[in-house]
Amino acid sequence: MSLLEVTDLQVEYASPRGAFKAVDGVSFSIERGEIFGLAGESGCGKSTTAFGISRLLRPPARLAGGRVLFDGQELTGMPELAFQAFRWSRMSVVLQSAMNNLNPVMRVGSQLTDVILAHEPGTSARDAWSRAESLLALVELPADRLRSYPHELSGGMRQRVVIAMSLALRPDLIIMDEPTTALDVVTQQGIVRRIVELKKELGFAVLFITHDLPLMLEICDRIGIMYAGKMAEIGRADRLLRGARHPYTQGLLRAFPSLTGPKVRIAGIPGSPPDLVSPPAGCRFQPRCAHAVAACSAAQPAMTAADAGGSVACHLYETEEAGHEPVAASRQR
Ligand SMILES: Nc1ncnc2c1ncn2[C@@H]1O[C@H](COP(=O)(O)OP(=O)(O)OP(=O)(O)O)[C@@H](O)[C@H]1O
Ligand SMILES: [Mg+2]
Repeated sequence: MSLLEVTDLQVEYASPRGAFKAVDGVSFSIERGEIFGLAGESGCGKSTTAFGISRLLRPPARLAGGRVLFDGQELTGMPELAFQAFRWSRMSVVLQSAMNNLNPVMRVGSQLTDVILAHEPGTSARDAWSRAESLLALVELPADRLRSYPHELSGGMRQRVVIAMSLALRPDLIIMDEPTTALDVVTQQGIVRRIVELKKELGFAVLFITHDLPLMLEICDRIGIMYAGKMAEIGRADRLLRGARHPYTQGLLRAFPSLTGPKVRIAGIPGSPPDLVSPPAGCRFQPRCAHAVAACSAAQPAMTAADAGGSVACHLYETEEAGHEPVAASRQR
């Protein structure tokens, strides 16, 4: 059994122009101790997927369908109280802006011990404090920082505190949505390196979302590539790097030097993602795809298994037998 199994997840946003599905039938799983990345252009539904899994969706968003199983337990229907207990202890979330959500009038140490004491009320104040000290050590911050207020810390230090907090109850899964994007490159690298080391030491799994595709390819075991609310391809990071199957993944990889900076339009793929209120018929990528055939505008491609444990949703592969050279790659210019 996988640690996390997401099946046919659907999230709908209400909008003045009509409701649209920002996440439309997304399925993937994460194994214990695995780093699973979600990639794709801005607006493709990565954060909405993360919010759907961690039950952070708020209006105008609503869960419109699908199932999330965590260690065999259904999360989607879990009563709120049970989910709150679950939230930090089995699964925690680190968002890009999380460092700004630290309470400005509480010392870092009290915020860390609050998390521990709320979930493990039998813990003595002294034990909670010493656990908070070791948590800071995990993220390479000196213990005396427990007495600091958030404004006395740099952005990088604050984000390290948030990561320490996410580790406080030793969860099995940490969802990280652009955990370092707000920070300078050197600080980002330090924090990401530490997350990977901690993952090896503590064995948690990570759902990792970033615009930095080279970084993602380096640290993730597997990556899911999303396009316009759908999963286009899932594969091992090394396999994607050697031979991505989906034309969209190929375009993203060609474009990646421009992805290392701030959010930018992708140079490698002409055009832009569709309007989700009225997406194109068939494959959503078809209007931008250099390899499109008649079938592509007729029907949506289903996700089909490919070699090396990967899968791809592209008509070019549907008739292909495992082991053949990927059609799209062979046609690549
Ligand atoms: N609060 C909201 N109200 C209406 N639409 C929203 C809202 N938040 C997101 N959306 C829409 O949902 C779609 C998916 O957005 P989402 O934020 O999940 O994308 P993303 O892949 O995380 O993008 P980015 O890389 O920019 O973070 C987009 O079309 C976006 O405009
Ligand atoms: Mg996002």
